[in-house]
Amino acid sequence: MCGIVGYIGYRKAYPILIKGLHRLEYRGYDSAGCALVTDGGNLEIYKAKGKVADLEAAADGKDVSGELGIAHTRWATHGAPSTTNAHPHVSMSGDITLVHNGIIENYVTLRTQLEKRGYVFKSQTDTEVLVQLIEFQQKLRNCSLEVAVRYALKLAIGAYAIAVIDKKNPTRLVAARKASPLAIGIGEENKEFFLASDASPIAEYTKQIVYLNDDEVAVIERGKDLHVFTLQGEEATAEVKEVDVDLSMLDKGGYPHFMLKEIFDQPQVLRDCMRGRIVNNIYSSVTGQAHEVSLDVVLSAVSNHRRELLRARRIVIVSCGTSWHAGLIGKQLIEHFCRIPVEVAYASEFRYSDPVVDKDDVVIAISQSGETADTLAAIQLAKEKGAFVYGIVNAVGSSIARNTDTGTYIHVGPEIGVASTKAFTGQVTVLTLFSLALGMMKGTVDQQEYQDVLAELVKIPEKIEVVLKQNDKIKEIAQQYVNCRNFLYLGRGYNYPVALEGALKLKEISYIHAEGYPAAEMKHGPIALIDENMPVVFLTNHHARYQKVISNLQEVISRHGNILAIIHKDDETVKKMVQNYIEVPETISCLSPLVSVIPLQILSYHVAVARGLNVDQPRNLAKSVTVE
Ligand code: F6R
Repeated sequence: MCGIVGYIGYRKAYPILIKGLHRLEYRGYDSAGCALVTDGGNLEIYKAKGKVADLEAAADGKDVSGELGIAHTRWATHGAPSTTNAHPHVSMSGDITLVHNGIIENYVTLRTQLEKRGYVFKSQTDTEVLVQLIEFQQKLRNCSLEVAVRYALKLAIGAYAIAVIDKKNPTRLVAARKASPLAIGIGEENKEFFLASDASPIAEYTKQIVYLNDDEVAVIERGKDLHVFTLQGEEATAEVKEVDVDLSMLDKGGYPHFMLKEIFDQPQVLRDCMRGRIVNNIYSSVTGQAHEVSLDVVLSAVSNHRRELLRARRIVIVSCGTSWHAGLIGKQLIEHFCRIPVEVAYASEFRYSDPVVDKDDVVIAISQSGETADTLAAIQLAKEKGAFVYGIVNAVGSSIARNTDTGTYIHVGPEIGVASTKAFTGQVTVLTLFSLALGMMKGTVDQQEYQDVLAELVKIPEKIEVVLKQNDKIKEIAQQYVNCRNFLYLGRGYNYPVALEGALKLKEISYIHAEGYPAAEMKHGPIALIDENMPVVFLTNHHARYQKVISNLQEVISRHGNILAIIHKDDETVKKMVQNYIEVPETISCLSPLVSVIPLQILSYHVAVARGLNVDQPRNLAKSVTVE
């Protein structure tokens, strides 16, 4: 979803802006643009519908000089994707230009008022209102750009991250945020500054980053200290954080798509996710010889918040999409190991549902990007109602990470492909660790089971590697399904959320309609859909209810359904019953999602590639959904 990049310093801004926009491509967008104050003091704007490469083509051969610039990738909300609606937008005088992420909810009212004062609008966007309003305030008050920005933002209702420049004052860049992320990178001795929606476009230049808070305006001037103000004009503290982004993680590493790389990253990133969190205890006998080894979970967020977590009468998980599916697995884990009732809510529903939440509830917010607007709003509501909020987040320093009371990072590295893969397995891994740690603290987890689950969890990366080796076989199977129009995914227990996740992965990147169901629920409706043309992906790799799953499988076979089964290795019974199967290594029930989701990720990837689709940036989707 929309991305902002800005630069002010001593180097040419244009290449930095373009590289930054490429870094943000993963967020999803449909047009791009940039503004430069050139060496000759002109304001040059280049825009294009489509990709950053189209913007580069639009600027080719034109004046791209200058050491101050802002750039943007737009994901259309108000007004279709087009060159006119693409950012930057320019004020009526042509002096001030602005890029914006978010939505100005009262833009119609503001626009009408400005039109009455003679302002003419060129686009259908809510954003253009802001740039005109800033110019109006500047003229009205005869004030500096930053003061005009503050006054304009006080009138705007909604969410924004903005970067603004005034060609009359080319030594300064003004930025502000409310409910949409914005990071400022500080170069050596303040000689240059970088601005971006997240740290990825900044990381190769500096590690010193300031994340703006809501309702803050930053005044960025070459050669001077960074100043941050509240909307009321009081100086605020710019807290500088040391941010380390592994740049190799931002490249495709030899894979044709980020999604495939991220699927293959999973064994390693899950090891990273567990590192230091599962520790060996070696008990020595009096002779000094080690004689017993046990494993333990160390999650500082759990041990440091004993009081808040132990008093939880209920846990509510809030999240969206794939993170919501991880939440459904989390519910089963927490209820089993901690004996605390858990509700899993879509963040978008929770925030408007007048939820019954109080100080005895713990709310867990799960988010890969840490910027999902609905999840952020759900957190704010939960906090207002007094709940203790725990975040399970991937993006370090993101808004959700900063707005929760405590939390655990999943540490799986930047996820660039729009379809979430490694974040899902990272979230499930952290939820497993969380429920074991809390269950141990509460005394509700059986000691032997605690040891068994931990001993098995550390083997999961190897088991995923076994599944990844079947990539070619899965690719072959995928070819049979390329022209299908509908899919059904069925699973039970811990594998029911995996069925939902498999269906979501397929529909978002291959545009094939797919639905996930609990296997036994099938006969209450979806069974009517089953015939020889309906592929049914069946997750049978579940110990506890294996016999019941076999009965459900029989029901599909009797209706001539075309079955692709995910089975435990050597499950000869199912192999004989189905058209296709993919074997996954055995593991214990609660960990089975970590292996059974892998073939479903690979399957959707190959179906989408065979259909010739843009796997990493599927149509209409954004990586970071920063509007509600
Ligand atoms: C699916 C997908 C989305 C996200 C959802 C939540 O592959 O990527 O469904 O899971 O938009 O995003 P986060 O986890 O960033 O809050």
